[in-house]
Amino acid sequence: MHNFSISSDQSSDILYGDLTAAARALTDGEPDGIANMANVSALIWQYIPDLNWAGFYRILDGQLVLGPFQGKSACIRIAMGKGVCGTAAATNEVQRVADVHAFPGHIACDADSRSELVVPVCKDGKVIAVLDLDSPLPSRFSAADEAGITQLIAAIANNLG
Ligand code: SME
Repeated sequence: MHNFSISSDQSSDILYGDLTAAARALTDGEPDGIANMANVSALIWQYIPDLNWAGFYRILDGQLVLGPFQGKSACIRIAMGKGVCGTAAATNEVQRVADVHAFPGHIACDADSRSELVVPVCKDGKVIAVLDLDSPLPSRFSAADEAGITQLIAAIANNLG
């Protein structure tokens, strides 16, 4: 059993610092990237408030394929460059979308989603996956959330593939 002392009720610096430390503790030394994605999506789901989906898409044979996640069942395959996730994977750039209805080509897996943050996962200079966070709240993700999640993913990217 893992007991982390993480409170969502604190500054984002502290929250993401604690989450990054917990994600490292969970994944360091475990070579299976899928198991690690499963634990990291559970960790994020437990401690980051106001999410309706949190999980990974892996890049396999030039497509995004649904990986470990928390939330409702979701689209299984996404073409590179399509939607918010496919755009993040194709450009290797974080996509922070305040209003998903205004994003051309947004793929609505859950009609409740209003804003989204997608962070590419890079290993050996290659995008191997993306982490996708969705929220039912518009403009849920701040620049501090983007920086915190980017730092978390950079700290554990080598454990995710
Ligand atoms: N909204 C995403 C698709 C993935 S689901 O939200 C889980 C997109 O536009 O890429």
